[in-house]
Amino acid sequence: MTASLAIDGGQPVRDSFLVFGKPCLGEEEEREVLDTLRSGWIGTGPKALRFEQMFAEYVGCKHALAVNSATAALHLSLLAAGIKPGDEVITSPLTFAATANVAIHAGARPVFADIDPATLNIAPENIERAITGRTRAIIVVHFGGLPCQMAEIMEIARQHNLTLVEDAAHAVGARYNGRLIGNLGNLACFSFYANKNLTTAEGGMVTTDDDAMAERIAVYRLHGLSRHAWQRYASRRLMLSDAIYPGYKYNMPDLLASLGIHQLRRVEDGLLTRERYARVYDEAFAEIPGVRLQPRPGDGLNRHGLHLYVLVLDLAHFRVSRNQIIDSLLAENIGAALHYRALHMHPYYRDTFGYEPEDFPAAASVGESILSLPLTPCISEQDAADVIEAVRKVLAGYRR
Ligand SMILES: Cc1ncc(COP(=O)(O)O)c(C=O)c1O
Repeated sequence: MTASLAIDGGQPVRDSFLVFGKPCLGEEEEREVLDTLRSGWIGTGPKALRFEQMFAEYVGCKHALAVNSATAALHLSLLAAGIKPGDEVITSPLTFAATANVAIHAGARPVFADIDPATLNIAPENIERAITGRTRAIIVVHFGGLPCQMAEIMEIARQHNLTLVEDAAHAVGARYNGRLIGNLGNLACFSFYANKNLTTAEGGMVTTDDDAMAERIAVYRLHGLSRHAWQRYASRRLMLSDAIYPGYKYNMPDLLASLGIHQLRRVEDGLLTRERYARVYDEAFAEIPGVRLQPRPGDGLNRHGLHLYVLVLDLAHFRVSRNQIIDSLLAENIGAALHYRALHMHPYYRDTFGYEPEDFPAAASVGESILSLPLTPCISEQDAADVIEAVRKVLAGYRR
């Protein structure tokens, strides 16, 4: 007999709610924030600079430019690449709205290319099919932290002379062919939002080896001024700053960079812990009929960033929708979440571009059957055991 589900009035698997993506912050972050508060300089300055230098060194790229979100990083990357009205930008339909929204902010048209349903990443052959005479850029998304097929995609970009932007919001610490995501020679955009593997509460970073694009991003991110406030202050001389572009307010303040400096030091340890819990989850879920896991390369050269641990459900095995399954997990006090419904099925994209669900069938289907489970380095073994118990209980309760 299966236990009565909490959503139906039964006893939940745990008494307290297990939050999805709880940030792991320590005393070092607290001390650094306090130091910044007391320093008299909380805006963009020496700590943002230090965080950038550390990040560039970590991924092994020439330039790292801190901004206030991955959305800003993506937007500036497109502008730095010269994307303009009338251009087309190819991206994955299985992503957060920001990935495609930024193409629209640059005046371009986002064009979707369907995912490979096994990896959940954009499929190179679908990118090729989506290229037209107006295509200028590709934004790939390393879904959940699993690197895309970069060799194939970089070759497509080279052949068609397209700028390749990586949405690496999930991919800090992830590796492709022995290299950390962020140093493949393109523009890579990271997110430091509250639930990300490295958080500054809100924040982002662009990494690139391209001097000219880095220079443009540095200017565009702060009003388009030729010198920013810290440069002027630190010089102790009157320094005029010229407006050389109608720029944006996308800079990262030192108060937030204070978190990033220490969060970056925790990335590797955090990833090792995520990997440990992910193996526990794998073992528990691999045998459940109707549940599919995202592949995780284990060859040392390639590494999943494990921002998300997702289950893809074969709904033929269950009596209810994915949404009801998430609701039921929430009732069991497990912070399950949804990343993502396919973008072409959202009202704006559907109505503006006339998309039908079957235009990108893999993303449409995965988007209705995927869910994410809590996985951060600061969950306990008991938390992970509760997640497993709740998934087993809920899926058994709804099995056909
Ligand atoms: C794939 C992806 N791209 C971009 C973003 C935007 O990140 P941010 O909130 O830092 O702007 C997110 C946020 O979750 C994301 O998941």
